[in-house]
Amino acid sequence: MGIKVYKGNIISSKSYDELSVINRGYVVVEDGKILEVSDSLSDEYAGEDIKDYGDKLIIPAFSDLHMHAPQYTQRGIGMDCLLFDWLNGYTFPQESNYKDNEYARAVYARLIRDFIRHGSLQVNLFTTIHYDACDILYRYLKESGLYAYTGLTNMDMNSPDYYVDETEESLRKTEEFIINHNSDDKVKLILIPRFAPTCSKRLMEGLGEFAKKYDLGVHTHLVESRAEADWSRELYPECGSDGAIYEKYGLLQGSGPKIFAHVIFPTEVEERILKEYNGISVHCPDATSNVTAGIMPVSDMADKGLKIALGTDVGGGHFMGIYRQIARATQISKMKEFYEEGYRRIRLANAFYLATVGGGSAFDRIGKIEKGYRFNALVIDNMLDEEYMTSLEDALERFCYIGDDRNIYERYIDGKLIDPDEVYERLLKI
Ligand code: GUN
Ligand code: FE
Repeated sequence: MGIKVYKGNIISSKSYDELSVINRGYVVVEDGKILEVSDSLSDEYAGEDIKDYGDKLIIPAFSDLHMHAPQYTQRGIGMDCLLFDWLNGYTFPQESNYKDNEYARAVYARLIRDFIRHGSLQVNLFTTIHYDACDILYRYLKESGLYAYTGLTNMDMNSPDYYVDETEESLRKTEEFIINHNSDDKVKLILIPRFAPTCSKRLMEGLGEFAKKYDLGVHTHLVESRAEADWSRELYPECGSDGAIYEKYGLLQGSGPKIFAHVIFPTEVEERILKEYNGISVHCPDATSNVTAGIMPVSDMADKGLKIALGTDVGGGHFMGIYRQIARATQISKMKEFYEEGYRRIRLANAFYLATVGGGSAFDRIGKIEKGYRFNALVIDNMLDEEYMTSLEDALERFCYIGDDRNIYERYIDGKLIDPDEVYERLLKI
């Protein structure tokens, strides 16, 4: 690919608290990797072709670390429900549709187009119990060029008759899926027990064996609501807490990422486990507002050095853009501070860090516009006001609050432009 130079207003996280902002700076990229980021171009690159984005912003692409691919079709529906009513009334019936491969093909092609449109170029996806639908999603992800984790979802109890697997069948299908779908650099496999209440001890034990045998990480829901945390403890009294189930049954033994959605009521046990196993907690502010699960104590967890990312949790969440979760995480942290004495809100720079660096930590050298990182990036347009002076930080904040996919002018993965409609047309052909 050779060397490419991009010029624009570069915004990336320096740390959890601080943005790095370079006015009309340069990013030098060679073979998809960033060689240099600076406010004036080094002499050695002076002769290279420069793509000048003017006053547009260049930012890292977003990571959506908790999303349910099959729930794409139920965005914005059933939002009056609490978690369990929403699962039983909307989600399980809807997910059971994926026994139909044509349905899966149609929805998953649109889903991937939408991820690209909204600039989520690294994703971690829940699926369903249907082998063929999971296979379609895996192949679409490979074809798309996105960075992703996915696999086959497990549930063998406390689920409706029309949407549940028998324990040994669930394990057999999972192992077959693992054997037939190699992890590669971009699309990787992960174990997906839905959550403790829908997974038997024998199922957890079997998945624990796969974690070790195939060296896989795990993606699940953890202490999402008080009712869920209580139910998990009742079902697994020998574990004493939701997080301890995954530890005891061996699901944290692989080297892949341990990704836990929501983590709204972590006890000291969950905090120890998250730390010890380098777990990533995924904050999904739209979703936990919609199903009234609660609000993740982000600033407390960040103070304790725990890793945090953002997720849309569509269809618990209703909107595909992670940038809006940056705004929402900031908003609802203010409500938590308002109602809860001693809690400290987060700021936009913190939430931006979670959406880029936090989520990017599940992948390799992704999440910053910085030397050594992959050039997975977005070019953001039309957020600077011409009528009065707006700072670059203001432009980023405004994009998170009022921007949408129309303001994402261009998208790069590994230094290559990616076009949502071109990818969609390709997916329809495979
Ligand atoms: N817990 C178990 N399944 C789900 C799901 O599909 N969405 C959310 N938000 N929580 C869950
Ligand atoms: Fe979820």
